[in-house]
Amino acid sequence: MLGLTDHLGDALWRVESASIEPQDSPGGLVVAGMGGSAIGGALARAALGDHASRPIFVTRAYGLPPWTTPDTMVLCASYSGNTEETLACYESAGALGAQRTVVTTGGRLAEMARADGVPVIPLPGGFQPRAAVAYMTVAALEVAALCGAGPRLTSEIDVAASHTEQLVSEWGPDAPEDSLAKTIARGLHGTTPTIAGAGLTTPVAYRWKTQINENAKLPCFMHELPELDHNEIVGWEGASEVGRFSAVFLDDSDAHPRVKERMALTARLIAPYAQASFRLETRGETPIERVISLVLLGDLVSIYLATLRGVDPGPVRVLEELKAALAAS
Ligand code: PA5
Repeated sequence: MLGLTDHLGDALWRVESASIEPQDSPGGLVVAGMGGSAIGGALARAALGDHASRPIFVTRAYGLPPWTTPDTMVLCASYSGNTEETLACYESAGALGAQRTVVTTGGRLAEMARADGVPVIPLPGGFQPRAAVAYMTVAALEVAALCGAGPRLTSEIDVAASHTEQLVSEWGPDAPEDSLAKTIARGLHGTTPTIAGAGLTTPVAYRWKTQINENAKLPCFMHELPELDHNEIVGWEGASEVGRFSAVFLDDSDAHPRVKERMALTARLIAPYAQASFRLETRGETPIERVISLVLLGDLVSIYLATLRGVDPGPVRVLEELKAALAAS
C-alpha cells in the first residue's frame, strides 16, 4: 500500500505502452470486474464526476447491463484473469459485438484477449488484487478517455502521485503513534465499523469496508448520505443492545453544502450510540487527488487494525476456499 504513489505513475506508463487505439464509444463505458478489481472502476467514475461525458457503469455480476451495445466499451478488469464473473462478461461483450479492453496480470482473460486481438493492459504480478487499486483506477480513467467517456487526467494523476507521497509520510507506519490513521485504527478496534460516504466518497466508503473485511478480517458495513439519513440513522438507537459499533464519515471538501451539514448533524446525533466516531475530509485539490487521499487513509487504517488484532492482512483464506469449491463444482 505504501507503493501507491509509484503504482499511479507505473499504471500510466503501462497503459501508454499498451498502445491502445482510441475507439469512440457513444454508448459509454462499462467496467466489468469483482472485488478488488472492480473498485478501480467505481473510484475512476467518482474522480471523473461531472466531467464524465458519457455513462460510466460498474458491473459486479455475471452479465452486462441490458443496454450494452456494439457502441459500448467494456473494460474487463481482473487481477488474476481467472474470475468467472468477469470472464462471463468478457464473453457476453464479445457476443454483443461491444468494444473490449482487458486489464489483468494474465490468466484465462489474457489468453482469450490475445486470441481475439483485444487490447490488454498488463499489470505487475505478485500483489493481492486489492493492492493493485491504483493500477485499476488509472486503467479505468485512461480507458474512459480513450473511448470518449471523459477527459484525460494524466497530469492530475501525476500531481496526485506526488501529493500522496506526503500523505504516506504523515499517516504511514513511521508516523507518530498519535497520527491520524493510527488514532482511527485504535478507535475502531473492538468495534464493528460502519463507514458513510457521499458523492465522491461513496465508493471510497465501500473501499474502506472491503479493506477492513479483507485486511483486518472483520465485519464492516457502509452506507451513503443523504440516503442514510432516511433509514440507518434510526437503527443507531438500538446499536448498543446488539453490539459495539463505530462510525466513520467520509466528507469531501467539495461536497454539496447540505450534504456537509447532514454529515455533521448525523455524526452528532449518533454519537451517543457509537463506541467511536470520526469525521474525515478528503485532502487535495483535484477529485482524483481527493479520492486517493481517503483510499490511502482507509487502506492504512485497515492494516493497523489487522496489526492491533494480531492477524495477517495478506491472505484471504475463506475467499480462496470458496473460489476453489466453485471451481470444483
Ligand atoms: O480482494 C480480493 O482478493 C478479491 O476481492 C478479488 O479482487 C476478487 O475475488 C476478484 O478477483 P480478481 O481481482 O483476480 O479478478
